[in-house]
Amino acid sequence: MKILKPAFLAAGLLLTGHLYAQAPVVIQGALDIETDHMVSKLTHVKSKTYGGWQFWEGKYKGQPIVISRTRMGMTDAAAATTLAIEHYHPAAIINQGTAGGHDPALNVFDIVLGKQSENIGAFITPKKALGEGSNALTWNKPFNVLPNDNSDAEASRHLTFAGDDKLIQTANSIKSTYTKGRVVEGVIGSADVWNNELDRIKLFHDTYKTSVEEMETASAAQVASLYKVPFLGIRVLSNNATNNGAYNPNTGEACQDYALDVATTYLANAKK
Ligand code: 5AD
Repeated sequence: MKILKPAFLAAGLLLTGHLYAQAPVVIQGALDIETDHMVSKLTHVKSKTYGGWQFWEGKYKGQPIVISRTRMGMTDAAAATTLAIEHYHPAAIINQGTAGGHDPALNVFDIVLGKQSENIGAFITPKKALGEGSNALTWNKPFNVLPNDNSDAEASRHLTFAGDDKLIQTANSIKSTYTKGRVVEGVIGSADVWNNELDRIKLFHDTYKTSVEEMETASAAQVASLYKVPFLGIRVLSNNATNNGAYNPNTGEACQDYALDVATTYLANAKK
């Protein structure tokens, strides 16, 4: 039986159709405007759907790439990341797409490389009696949703997820090719919330140093960290409420081009 095992394994992989000689990079995007353009640039494309999550495996510039449409929000991002890792065993995961600016110095079309990503929806609120109301500006106790144990010290801080050094290095090495805005390193804040209150945005920016907010990166990063898969969030500002940066959906395409180039450069360097 043992002798037959590798043959069965190879046959199984061939049947499932994603036997890459080299592990691929999975590039995630939540929406069609964050994935369609990348899919259109792949060759040898094969699409698979697991539950509600679609994947496209193919090649770009000769390198194995899987595009994953995660759908919107933290739950979908976590599920899609788990599926991606279990089915494709990727060399790395890039979560990319649009985001809203928290830093007034950043403009629509600028790109933030997530040196860190952080769940900015997890808090323990102050106690207030019925009738005392609610004020999110007083929520100063972050809830660590991934504690090592159940101690209070663990519960009172947000867990941040570091972007992979090699992926950041790779992204920085090609940043001059991105001509639609700047590419900077920063903190990506994630939650199932679209914040429009400027005082709250300022609080996130001042306290957690967030550059941008969106709804997926920290969730995908959390799953990738537990699997020990190298991970990087790459987010383009599609809007910035802090400096009247109007929403521009074309930013989605610009970010996809850059993310694809980061992925293929990363894989090409890994072969050297
Ligand atoms: N706040 C929250 N999410 C945003 N997104 C773009 N801009 C913002 C913003 N200002 C992204 C999210 C989600 C969709 C609404 O677009 O990641 O997928």
